[in-house]
Amino acid sequence: MNRRLLSLFVIFAAVSLAPRAWSAPLLVPMPAKVVEQSGAFEVSARTPIVYFDRRDAFAARYLFDLVKRTRGIALRQGRGAKAIVLKRDTGIGGDEAYRLQVAPEGVTISARTGSGIFYGVVTLWQLLTQTAGEADHIVLNAVTIDDAPRFVWRGMLLDSVRHFQTVSFVKQFIDAMAREKLNVLQWHLTDDQGWRIEIKRYPRLTRVGAWRVPAGEAARRDIDASTGKPRLYGGFYSQADIRDIVAYAAERHVTIVPEIEMPGHALAAIVSYPWLASVSNPPSEVSSDWGVFPYLYNPRARTFQFLENVLTEVMALFPSRYIHVGGDEAVKDQWKANPEIQARMHALGLADENALQGWFIARIGKFLAAHGRRLIGWDEILEGGVPPDATITSWRGIDGAITAAKTGHDAVLSPAPVLYFDNRQVEGAAEPSGRGAIVSLKDVYDFDPAPPALSDLERKQIIGIQANIWTEHIREQKNVFYAAFPREAALAEIAWSPAATRDWSSFLARVPAELARLDALGTGHSNHLDGPPPAPASPDRRDSHELGLCSNGVVLSIEGGAPVAGPRPVFLHDIMNPCWIWSKAPIGGATGISITAGLLPFNFQIGDDRAKVTNRPPATPNGEFEVRLDGCDGPKIATLPMPHRGADEGLATIHGPVVPTAGTHDLCLMFTTPSVDPYWALHSVELVRK
Ligand code: ACM
Repeated sequence: MNRRLLSLFVIFAAVSLAPRAWSAPLLVPMPAKVVEQSGAFEVSARTPIVYFDRRDAFAARYLFDLVKRTRGIALRQGRGAKAIVLKRDTGIGGDEAYRLQVAPEGVTISARTGSGIFYGVVTLWQLLTQTAGEADHIVLNAVTIDDAPRFVWRGMLLDSVRHFQTVSFVKQFIDAMAREKLNVLQWHLTDDQGWRIEIKRYPRLTRVGAWRVPAGEAARRDIDASTGKPRLYGGFYSQADIRDIVAYAAERHVTIVPEIEMPGHALAAIVSYPWLASVSNPPSEVSSDWGVFPYLYNPRARTFQFLENVLTEVMALFPSRYIHVGGDEAVKDQWKANPEIQARMHALGLADENALQGWFIARIGKFLAAHGRRLIGWDEILEGGVPPDATITSWRGIDGAITAAKTGHDAVLSPAPVLYFDNRQVEGAAEPSGRGAIVSLKDVYDFDPAPPALSDLERKQIIGIQANIWTEHIREQKNVFYAAFPREAALAEIAWSPAATRDWSSFLARVPAELARLDALGTGHSNHLDGPPPAPASPDRRDSHELGLCSNGVVLSIEGGAPVAGPRPVFLHDIMNPCWIWSKAPIGGATGISITAGLLPFNFQIGDDRAKVTNRPPATPNGEFEVRLDGCDGPKIATLPMPHRGADEGLATIHGPVVPTAGTHDLCLMFTTPSVDPYWALHSVELVRK
């Protein structure tokens, strides 16, 4: 052996004899227990998937499809040695628990239940996707995984009202949940802006209630040739669609909890059947405003008949034990102003309108209970005296859950802002529209589902957690996935993994493999994981998302209404006070300033707060853009009259001189406007140097 060959041999021997460094597999959510074993198992197209119980046929096919789609390996169907075996085992405790064993002889997934088998399959697929790309075989290190979830309710809410998603999209959303071992979809199907579920007995709910003219002038000018009227936006799910989606979800062990809102968020129903209203002259069109409307169902016999008929059809479609009845944001002004409703309230011996809401919800709760179902509602339902077996979704922070748990109710934690995934993930101009708060991946991961305010016993009433994707500001359904991922993976880990395994740096190290899985399946996601937002491209230019705000009223990152089709510019501002701060702007040497701005519809229902919207009177017909130095009361260094513009005509670009100023200064940027609706919103600003 020559020296060169000898040294190669020594290196080879050293490598092959050294104990193989074991690194924990990249799994999300982290299983309860992962134990390294010795040896390995090779998976290839020769590896059979074997199952003994016909009920596991779907899980076997699911594994086959995932491995084929992500690694290009078509596992063998049918029996044989060195197999992947799915096996029911009554010795495995826990409704969703499983054991996954990878050994040199084969892979075994054992569980007592179908959910356990399914979750074992998902974990095995994750083991098979430690790296991405096509392969002709994959070597799995031997391992034993014993796993079961921390919480029984691992939920997402999808708002299909504010913007409608297709059946195929809803299925993709459910499939993505299942791959994270999430198991409850609260499906928001009715609200002020639309009614999205076909109810045979009340066809106007979808013939009328499912359609609206979007906000703004651009939509009003977009005439539908077949009607000669503005084109309607909307849609609904037929009962056949819903059966299809419910069955699709059930195969993936996702329960769909339908949400039918009452007594508020009821405008689409009221427009469809005006006798449901608490006022005599309700609107005749579904609205495209966001926010909280005053329209409540009239709490009289005919309304309950309607709601019970609706719920009867809903229960026939959704096998879920829980039915969500909303109950949030029901401002009681119309109940206070209606003498018949007041008389009824007094006749029932109810002290006030909150108690009337309590009575309303209790009555519906009794109806659901008589049909073997359980009522769940947003935390406001606690205010009116709630039925004892009602479950609470705590959204106004976690206080609702604490009150619920202390009074013996089950609760789901779904607090804003941290579990409201329509909030942006990072500052900066690249983020799609959304609510203005920043909820990073780490913010979600750090959410503690075991509130210290509760005793150990009370904590048992917390049955789970849920993140919500409201879609007021998510017009394009692909951006639902952007909002969801990777934050949904963080949610899944909090909901599934034991508290003791929680470790941010470990999670962060596992996320890239998770994103690669999403990529391989064509599921969208944000790429921002951690760290600061990207720096502005130029020191002389800022997008509205790269500016500070003068106030923190209702901060939104929203699109205008134009163009009707295609991408729209996005504006970050406080709708209560459109005013921005450019801190430490390099104003020295600038001779002018150039801005882009949009005239936006003010389509927000904010009740009496509308009077509080800052509306600075203009000196010229269309208002002016103003720049002030060192604060909003400082000297004016630029005044640019705004051009005449119809609302929603797209971005206006204007420029003008600035008073020569040395150094760097904080600039206050704002508009004077002739009206609250429409109003000017700043899109970008740039300093001009001659
Ligand atoms: C809610 O966000 N109104 C539940």
